[in-house]
Amino acid sequence: MNIVVASRKEDASEYVASLLGPLFRSVEPIRLGLATGETMIPIYQALVRQLTEGHPLGGAVETFNLDEYWPINSDHPGSFEQFMHRHLLSHIGPWVGRSNFLQGACPDPDLECGRFQKLLNWRPLDIQLLGLGLNGHIGFNEPGTSFHSRTRKVALSPTTQARNARQFPGAMPDHAITMGIADIMAAKNIILVVFGLDKKDVLARALFGPVSEDCPASILQNHPQVTVVADEEAGSVLDQSLAGQKDRPISVTVL
Ligand code: GLP
Repeated sequence: MNIVVASRKEDASEYVASLLGPLFRSVEPIRLGLATGETMIPIYQALVRQLTEGHPLGGAVETFNLDEYWPINSDHPGSFEQFMHRHLLSHIGPWVGRSNFLQGACPDPDLECGRFQKLLNWRPLDIQLLGLGLNGHIGFNEPGTSFHSRTRKVALSPTTQARNARQFPGAMPDHAITMGIADIMAAKNIILVVFGLDKKDVLARALFGPVSEDCPASILQNHPQVTVVADEEAGSVLDQSLAGQKDRPISVTVL
């Protein structure tokens, strides 16, 4: 596991954008899993800036968004599909890649999740970008989710609804459709990004606590290629926790 800590989230975001930017310039097919949430906003801002300078885009990236509220129309301003257009896709046009979203307006979530699952199963994602929920969720896989879970409809916990209500115009749906933990773990590389003091404890639990379905992100300890990028606030407890990890291959970089 590689841990990268930057003093400011803006620097951390530039770093993450510099990992993602080359994928958008690739002319070889790339499959990239994207995430939403407040953490991603400065990352997509930095990515847009990096992509609109320099070489042209390669047009060979295919993106897959992790999750979506259910039910919700894709043109609803609170939908994750709109989030992606607002913060990334509409700024890097002409968009010559392909983006895949779980359809929150689908009447039959099982059918929709089956469609998306087939796309995912076709070939592993090259990189999956992840944020971290306050309760340790990844995607919308809430505590208690099986590590074997696949793409499916889920109920949102009260913690997640309360947190996400800040970004949601109007009444928040209480369900979502999300890639499962096993789908996330199938990605070849994972980048987990965590910002802010309120995430420091859950980050320490995820990286150094027991690998347990009580903290879905803890499964990332078992993934062979994880990069964790934190700002100083979220990373502030890591020094202390790292002291007890002498047997694990963890590299730490301070930007
Ligand atoms: C949402 C998303 C997650 C995201 C998490 C953190 O619930 N489904 O994919 O990682 O919340 O969001 P934020 O960055 O706003 O704290």
